[in-house]
Amino acid sequence: MHTILTTSIQRASNFIQKNEIVAFPTETVYGLGANAFNGDAVKKIFVAKGRPADNPLIVHIGEIGQLPSVVSKIPPFAEKLMIEFFPGPLTLVLSKSKKISTAATAGLNTVGVRIPKHQIAQKFLKECGVPVAAPSANISGKPSPTTWQAVNHDLNGKISCILKGNPSRVGVESTVVDCTGSAPIILRAGGVTLEQLRRIIPSTRIGKKNYQDAVKSPGVKYRHYSPLAYVFIVNGSEETVPMKSSAYIGMQRIGRKNFGLTKICRDQNEYARSLFHFFRECDRKGIQTIYCEQVSEDGIGLAVMDRIRNAAVQ
Ligand code: TXA
Ligand code: MG
Repeated sequence: MHTILTTSIQRASNFIQKNEIVAFPTETVYGLGANAFNGDAVKKIFVAKGRPADNPLIVHIGEIGQLPSVVSKIPPFAEKLMIEFFPGPLTLVLSKSKKISTAATAGLNTVGVRIPKHQIAQKFLKECGVPVAAPSANISGKPSPTTWQAVNHDLNGKISCILKGNPSRVGVESTVVDCTGSAPIILRAGGVTLEQLRRIIPSTRIGKKNYQDAVKSPGVKYRHYSPLAYVFIVNGSEETVPMKSSAYIGMQRIGRKNFGLTKICRDQNEYARSLFHFFRECDRKGIQTIYCEQVSEDGIGLAVMDRIRNAAVQ
């Protein structure tokens, strides 16, 4: 298959309408989209990514008016979260409407729904005119793509089109919040922080990654975000072995410069924005060991440490 690279929203949305699959930018990471009403279109995503069929996709819309075609029930606390955080890096899991393909939800009767804040994403989704099911646009198990070049590296020849945009501003995925119970439960930490959610709904809690939650959010049971290198979590440069074949990312400035690659981040936001890109750079340079500095798990640090821990699982 020839993959078309374009900046034309019209051209990209035409593929969605023809039930083909298209990668597009969002503020979190790039997504790989298909018409969420059409099971055959959605199945192409699973094939291109090599994604297990029991891992549901997030359904994206460009404006709140499209919500009734995606979800069937919205509890008051979920509505409050929408008012505060839509559009943005937040996905709410709600009862699904009948129109959404069961291929998109992996047979669940719930659906994750998100309105990205990214300008191009919003225009693209409005132009598509249908809800767009989209996981991150990477080969399953690899770090999520934060540039169109990373998408192209993983999926060229496997998808119809890449809508090119700027590098993703947030750099980690959306926060996934289960809203099917009596209070919000965070299934995956992400761009909207626990502290932000609690300011609106104080009873928000973090789901334990036990068996039940693993079933509730099937994505968390798979290995994720992994570069080719071994990933180690360290508490400062003393715990590292600087070599040409090793790399370091963190916020603490390190004295020694003999790593193959280093990235010093100004704050946790920059750490989040840089992490997946850094993993991919390391792969390109043949780095074998990546040291990631541990950061405090407040704010976006919770999502950063979640991704690093996942990448460090061998
Ligand atoms: O920022 C993001 O969320 C990006 C952009 C493209 O929107 N998307 C993304 O999708 O990260 P994906 O497929 O890589 O991760 C979706 C996560 C998975 O852990 C999946 O299991 C969970 O959301 N999820 C989706 N639908 C769900 C549902 N109905 N119930 C529980 N978990 C769900
Ligand atoms: Mg993903």
